[in-house]
Amino acid sequence: MWEHNLNSLNPGEFANLLKYREDKIAAAAGKGKREERQINKLSKSLHPKRQELRVAEVIEHGENCKSYILVPDAERGTAGCAYFSAGQYLSVFVDIDGNIHSRPYSIVSSPKESLSGKYQITVKAEENGLVSSYIIDHWREGTAVEVSDPMGTFTYEPLRDASHIIGIAGGSGITPFMSLGKAIADGDEDCSLTLFYGSRTCRHILFKAELDKLQARCPRIRVIHVLSDEHVDGYLYGYISAHLIRACVQETPYSVFVCGPRPMVSFMDEEIEKLGLERKYIRHELHGELLHPTEEGDYPQNVPETVKITVLCRGVTTDIFGSSADSILRTLEKSGIRAPSRCRSGECGFCRTRLVSGTVYIPKSMDMRRKADNRYGYIHPCCTYPLSALVVEIAADNEFHERKE
Ligand code: FES
Repeated sequence: MWEHNLNSLNPGEFANLLKYREDKIAAAAGKGKREERQINKLSKSLHPKRQELRVAEVIEHGENCKSYILVPDAERGTAGCAYFSAGQYLSVFVDIDGNIHSRPYSIVSSPKESLSGKYQITVKAEENGLVSSYIIDHWREGTAVEVSDPMGTFTYEPLRDASHIIGIAGGSGITPFMSLGKAIADGDEDCSLTLFYGSRTCRHILFKAELDKLQARCPRIRVIHVLSDEHVDGYLYGYISAHLIRACVQETPYSVFVCGPRPMVSFMDEEIEKLGLERKYIRHELHGELLHPTEEGDYPQNVPETVKITVLCRGVTTDIFGSSADSILRTLEKSGIRAPSRCRSGECGFCRTRLVSGTVYIPKSMDMRRKADNRYGYIHPCCTYPLSALVVEIAADNEFHERKE
């Protein structure tokens, strides 16, 4: 039977098969490109890989701090601003001397404003802050800006959080609370907010007028200013503490959301502990790197100042050198290697990378890796510091490479 079938085959027919198919394809009526499904369109508008924006307005706050109103740049392919939840951030990509650096900035504007095509972010120039200083010095009206989709989990979640939120903000850590306050006043978030805002003096309070207006507009928002360096009538003096929170807030349960400089967050951790809250009611926004790892109590001794990092990516091996006080991500960026990143504080896992060899330091408070990653040698380069020569295998920033190719 098998033999019979083989014998009946005519090899000449196979030789003609390719031409036969090509003729058929050429003769077929063109149907055009298939319509993109509605659900895919919606998904892309909510989670675009990149958003191309431009600066529409610059607002000065004094003391090296500015707000930027960003609007979609249709000419560069972005028709609208992706919607977000109050408390989320945008990762901003900045080209400095040909190297791409990213930094996360909380969105100050309300979710409602994104529907009308605008975001506001606020940037304060940090001491030795490469990207923040660059933005402050270079962004003008009309500057083209590239950002990620909105990300982050510092958002009110009714299934987990209490419907009364105690916000604790220090300095520019006020930004996510501005968005939350506006969303509550707009009726987009069904919770109330008691905001403790710590500043050095009255002059250092950001968004004072806007906060006053929000309180006046919405009875579910209350702002308590606490000044550490100045006595002024109508303001509390000192530091935000468990004692102060208990004295000002009687209504329970509440969730505590903290956003501010790292020393303040560490101090507040100890204070919040005294409140005896369930773990789920305590939330931090840490986005941003640890700039001085050597000041951490458990940082090891005798670490070389400069280290070699061998980077494996897309089949290419590159040797780079960087300071051991810089995170691996920072050294990659300074060396012109574009690796994926978002939060830069160990939380999102976007920069996940395989450590092939070498020893590293990861601050305990920033080690949010999954157990399996810890076990099988994966690290988050945004919060990992080299202690010896390293070999790492990074995932390419595919969104970037897709656009370049
Ligand atoms: S960028 Fe989010 S964990 Fe590294």
